[in-house]
Amino acid sequence: MRLKRTHYCGLLTKKNINEKVVLAGWVQGKRDHGGLIFLDLRDRYGIVQVVFDFQKNASFFNQAEKLRPEYVLAVKGEVKHRSPDTVNPNLATGEVEIYAEDLEVFNSSLTPPFYIEDGIDTDENLRLKYRFLDLRRFEMQRSLEIRHKVMMSAREYLDDHGFWEIETPMLTLSTPEGARDFLVPSRTSPGSFFALPQSPQLFKQLLMVSGMDRYFQITRCFRDEDLRADRQPEFTQVDIEMSFCTSRDIMKEMEGLVSHIFKQVLHKELNTPLEVITYKEAMERFGSDKPDTRFAMEIVDISEIAGQSEFKVFKGVLEKGGVVKGLNARRCGHFSRKELDDLTLQVQLWGTGGLAWIILTEDGFKTPIAKFFTPSQLAEIKAKLQGEPGDLLLFVADQWETALKVLGQLRISLAGRLELIPGDKDHFLWVVDFPLLSYDREEKRHVANHHPFTAPLEEEISMLDQEPLTVRSQAYDLVYNGVEVAGGSIRIHKRDLQEKIFNLLGINAGEAEEKFGFFLKAFEYGVPPHGGIAFGLDRLIMLMAGKKSIRDVIPFPKTAGGTCLLTGAPAPVSPEQLKELHISTIFKGQ
Ligand code: AMO
Ligand code: AMP
Repeated sequence: MRLKRTHYCGLLTKKNINEKVVLAGWVQGKRDHGGLIFLDLRDRYGIVQVVFDFQKNASFFNQAEKLRPEYVLAVKGEVKHRSPDTVNPNLATGEVEIYAEDLEVFNSSLTPPFYIEDGIDTDENLRLKYRFLDLRRFEMQRSLEIRHKVMMSAREYLDDHGFWEIETPMLTLSTPEGARDFLVPSRTSPGSFFALPQSPQLFKQLLMVSGMDRYFQITRCFRDEDLRADRQPEFTQVDIEMSFCTSRDIMKEMEGLVSHIFKQVLHKELNTPLEVITYKEAMERFGSDKPDTRFAMEIVDISEIAGQSEFKVFKGVLEKGGVVKGLNARRCGHFSRKELDDLTLQVQLWGTGGLAWIILTEDGFKTPIAKFFTPSQLAEIKAKLQGEPGDLLLFVADQWETALKVLGQLRISLAGRLELIPGDKDHFLWVVDFPLLSYDREEKRHVANHHPFTAPLEEEISMLDQEPLTVRSQAYDLVYNGVEVAGGSIRIHKRDLQEKIFNLLGINAGEAEEKFGFFLKAFEYGVPPHGGIAFGLDRLIMLMAGKKSIRDVIPFPKTAGGTCLLTGAPAPVSPEQLKELHISTIFKGQ
């Protein structure tokens, strides 16, 4: 390297005029104007224009003629003010340009398979295969800058508040967080496997038993589950645990953490304390346990009126203990019959029997179910949903959870279609008082809604024997613009209660000993009351960076199929490697 960089391309301003600088970077583009070549040179900070003048230096001019996009080079020259007619207001460095006096080309480049610029409409798989080029694009670099800043500011806040960052093992025993484990075969213990952690849950609880008092870790978690835009098989948590605290203490501390991150990274103030709503209220008003509260369109109960009508579909569901719920799609009265049929098909795919609708017109009601309702019942429904002429009222009759979940999905899908969701708002809220357990019909047993170490509400512990499904937990989720960005709970710290919960989950004493013996042993040595939370860091950053997928804020993500297109992982290994690990596979390839 002959030329040593003195300045960054993207940071040059008028202040540097008349300075001699050496810049280094990649060729963004080149324009040849006869005896002048204008080269856009790019680094992490931006782009600046470099001018090669044939009159001044023919040799470098000739070299510059051969430069192509993505060649990487250093250039020396003087910073000059651009003439007023060539100032580029779209470029941060648009008032200056460098007159090249020296040039060192470090490397040439093949033509990239896509443009290195923001907003490209390129197949994501191609971007993932050439991720090293994709990450040259400013929007990706900005996402990674936000990611870096979020991690730095989280560490800063947590350190200031007495949390110690403590590492926990990656090669460990499986911790149940509800997903499948990734397994790692042991060479030294033939036939045995480590599991990669689904979260550091058990270790962080053990650290509380060890008296660490306040712990955090920014760590990778591994879950072999079906992937979606907001799920990856390996993802990052900001994992936190505190001793001698209530759920309110933890929530308050986390509000401080999120406010600090927002201030440091986005220069935005969050209004705290954040709103807290119960799971039941979240479901009844928004049809979701992670409601997007940036817009209204709340769900309304019309079971009572429906019960007085002659509509068999509604009455039948009510007789089976169900409910009738509706929402007002404002100003959607113009939906065609086809559009309404499509909505019906959609809700059927989401798992309910159908969709009833009423269009409010200036003269009354347009609906196939008019004949089953008296005019006063229709008027009452209209009033309950605060209907106006031109509105479309939509109803689902089903069991409580199904009816609400379907309307919740409908609410989000209509809001997207009608562009009701303000893109510039940041809405956070806590959802609390989740049911501790649900019943898995396929497996015919209770399952933990959060995880098996979550404490029930103190006053409901006595109901565990008779009505376990009505018991609520001391769990809390932090929801940001309709996405669950963090979840946590107060933990069980008494061995008998922990054993009772294992029992309810169908984990018998032998199994509990085998899976969690090391953990249960700690319960005999003075476990403090404790609780914690984990942030899905990728999701938080996705929303802060205004991205739609967590893949856009993870440097090297997996595809939706769980593979890495850049490296080709996962891949077969040699028979020798398998032999060493005492493994034989029955998969013969395709
Ligand atoms: P939980 O399983 O709710 O809790 O996970 C915490 C947060 O992690 C994020 N998350 C994910 N992000 C990306 N891809 C995934 N596959 C994925 N799965 C989860 C979510 C979620 O809110 N040990 C407990 C925490 C605790 O109780 O302290 C736990 O892991 O944003
Ligand atoms: P059916 O008697 O099944 O033909 O349904 C009559 C009307 O009721 C149709 O418009 C259906 O879409 C609607 N419907 C059917 N099931 C439900 C349901 N569970 N909730 C709301 N509307 C329904």
